[in-house]
Amino acid sequence: MDDATTAGSRPGAGGQPGARGAHDDLVAALPKAELHLHIEGTLEPEMAVELATRNGVAIPYPSAEALRRAYVFEDLQSFLDVYYTGCSVLVTDDDFYDLTMAYLRRARSQNVRHVEMYFDPQSHTTRGIPLATVVEGISRALADGRDELGMSSGLILSFLRHLSAEEAAATLDDALAYRDAFVAVGLDSSEVGNPPEKFRDVFARARQAGLQAVAHAGEEGPPSYIVQALDILGVRRVDHGVRCMEDGALVERLVAEQVPLTVCPISNVKLRVFPSLAEHNVLAMLRRGLCVTVNSDDPAYFGGYVEENYRALQAALGATDGDLVQLARNSFTASFLEEGARSEYLADLDEVARRFGVL
Ligand code: ADE
Ligand code: ZN
Repeated sequence: MDDATTAGSRPGAGGQPGARGAHDDLVAALPKAELHLHIEGTLEPEMAVELATRNGVAIPYPSAEALRRAYVFEDLQSFLDVYYTGCSVLVTDDDFYDLTMAYLRRARSQNVRHVEMYFDPQSHTTRGIPLATVVEGISRALADGRDELGMSSGLILSFLRHLSAEEAAATLDDALAYRDAFVAVGLDSSEVGNPPEKFRDVFARARQAGLQAVAHAGEEGPPSYIVQALDILGVRRVDHGVRCMEDGALVERLVAEQVPLTVCPISNVKLRVFPSLAEHNVLAMLRRGLCVTVNSDDPAYFGGYVEENYRALQAALGATDGDLVQLARNSFTASFLEEGARSEYLADLDEVARRFGVL
């Protein structure tokens, strides 16, 4: 497989922890998968202003700088209020295409090789945007990402948990017309007070249709929501899941079953799930044997794409080269890739790890 970013990046100082340049090279050189990414959360302020102008949509900020300055959040809900306002500038299939293509280019420049991307159909259909517009725009970009950037991808249709189970069911009915565009269904938005069990029936139907299932759980919500996501929704992966560490029996189960947890460190600090990166539990989770991956969630709003999240773990938590390789490895093992493609990515990763003296 081609590897544009690793050429000539042989580590100095044997790639040992503490050799700052070697660490920096390793993060860039490692092939990575991103498994927790909301495409609407990649809307950079500059593009928001451009699309607002293009579509004649009024937004309550005079400039991209003013918009960026507003990105200070108290908690998940205060972020979601801004995020849903941002969605209002997305109108045509070209808007969804441009948004998705911009993310793919940026991610590829960070050596992200595979992405499993969320979109929130109800953030758009409730504004009168046809589901076809959204799905066609994003899917066209994912196809171009495969052809032009060599990136593989999957699309995850996510239900907004603050809306009703009936609305989720109607969304699934509409979406099944595009069944082949999706790899999985997911669950996001305001967590506390909207437990996974509320969506039991729609997830059962989605799984009957052959879709995988994932869900946000244990971001702000309690460990019991993680248990519900596993036992009631039948999820293969838990998004965030950081609050699992409050429940020893749950941790044991997650380790035993190697349930992937798609952790988003910078997001968790911006939304005040943790007071600081230095206090984040992601490395404790990794060392406990959990199958942790590192992701960006809503990078335009939180100020960091995947690479910045890996680097944050080095800077704030002292993540070693071995930790970084393990996190990148987990990102492929936790993906919905077919075995052949997964093995190829992992072989590339092993080659980089060997070059840096980590294997
Ligand atoms: N939608 C976009 N980002 C989200 C997050 N971090 N949690 C829940 N819903 C979201
Ligand atoms: Zn998320």
